[in-house]
Amino acid sequence: MQSESARLAQELEDEYRRCTPASAALAEQAQRALPGGDTRNSTYMRPYPLYIDRGEGAYLVDVDGNRVLDAVNNWTSLIHGHAHPAVVEAINAQAARGTAYAAANPHAHRLAEAIKDRVPSVDLLRFTNSGTEATMLALRAARAVTGRPLIVKMRGAYHGSHDTFEVADGVAAPGIIPGTADYVREVQFNNPEDLSRVMEREGSQVAAVIVEGVMGAAGMLPPEEGYLQHIRRETERHGALMVMDEVISLRVAPGGAQELFGVSPDLTTMGKIIGGGLPVGAVGGRAEVMRRYSPLEPGFLHHSGTFNANPLTMVAGIATLEELDADATGYINRLGERLAAGVRTLAAEQQVPLQVTGTGSLQNVHFAATQPRTAGEAAQADGELLRLLQLRLLLDGVFMARRGMFALSTVTTEAEVDGIIAALRSAIRWLRPAIAERLPVAAAG
Ligand SMILES: Cc1ncc(COP(=O)(O)O)c(C=O)c1O
Repeated sequence: MQSESARLAQELEDEYRRCTPASAALAEQAQRALPGGDTRNSTYMRPYPLYIDRGEGAYLVDVDGNRVLDAVNNWTSLIHGHAHPAVVEAINAQAARGTAYAAANPHAHRLAEAIKDRVPSVDLLRFTNSGTEATMLALRAARAVTGRPLIVKMRGAYHGSHDTFEVADGVAAPGIIPGTADYVREVQFNNPEDLSRVMEREGSQVAAVIVEGVMGAAGMLPPEEGYLQHIRRETERHGALMVMDEVISLRVAPGGAQELFGVSPDLTTMGKIIGGGLPVGAVGGRAEVMRRYSPLEPGFLHHSGTFNANPLTMVAGIATLEELDADATGYINRLGERLAAGVRTLAAEQQVPLQVTGTGSLQNVHFAATQPRTAGEAAQADGELLRLLQLRLLLDGVFMARRGMFALSTVTTEAEVDGIIAALRSAIRWLRPAIAERLPVAAAG
């Protein structure tokens, strides 16, 4: 006999196929040139990815003409939604003047100053084209200034798609040479003793401890009180650098999670919102460390990139930050808290094991009996139920990330957030048989 979750999955996938024939056709054709029909595993979904025609403010319109409220915002990067007029105007004006030159441009300095004004721990910074490159450069600098090889990261953290960080539980990801893992130590997030133990044992060889401001890909897990300060103390005690990866978390306060949680790292990696919707990354921090990237320094570090700080990205980033004052940040954070409160209420009403974690405008739902605190705990939550929830919401007009994430933008209204809560309420009711089947003890408790 078919299980309840298989039955509901079938129902959802049939409905998805009925509503998205143009996406289905494109997905099939795209397989001929793109492995999996796309170039980004994070946008893949079963039975096939959704193909988007355009973004309009808080909404996406797919190639079949379906219009959905976008709560993913290109994985948190579109803080003002799609095609914000000020950003479009800045991009258009710059595009007419050329998109990239093999020479410096004044916009990079303007964006750098705008970031420095917000993030006091950043004296100097370098731009890249992605957050992945930013974390790579941060490691290079940390190793160069300390002369040490080891990197400590949180178990289950995501810092981009490069070999050093594609290590889990001491094992390199498939296809990556195993030796990579020899230079990485993983500790449990929100567990100060675990970090202290590793630092006690190997601290003299540790170049950097890297931590996300809010653990994003692991499920929007905020640091517990005092945890970041503990990392700060341990890194100082052992002469290692503290790197805060704020690629996602920079949006939680004007100065990022480091402002919100009151900690000053040596280096900060950034991306997403600072590019105004175009590809971007940056690494910044203490002058003594960042100066190593200056060609004026003896033994300087190599850092190139054909499109680094291209003027198109820089003007889009400047326009975005100009529109993002403390009020705008406060507004989206309140939207996120409204969403989280709504989720807690509906979970209590319906007595389902649905948790919500996050900070401000970044929230994540989990099918679990208790609130996850670490990536390991979040990974134990039910992924299939989340997949069904994503499809149900999508068919009801709300685009949530597959892993249960919501990132709200300044063009989202309170009424739209209430609409998300209403869609969640009816989706959870609809999913009840699958929830009861897959999480029976939790549902009963
Ligand atoms: C915390 C964190 N660091 C780094 C990255 C990599 O950034 P990008 O996708 O721009 O390479 C991501 C991407 O989501 C991220 O969440």
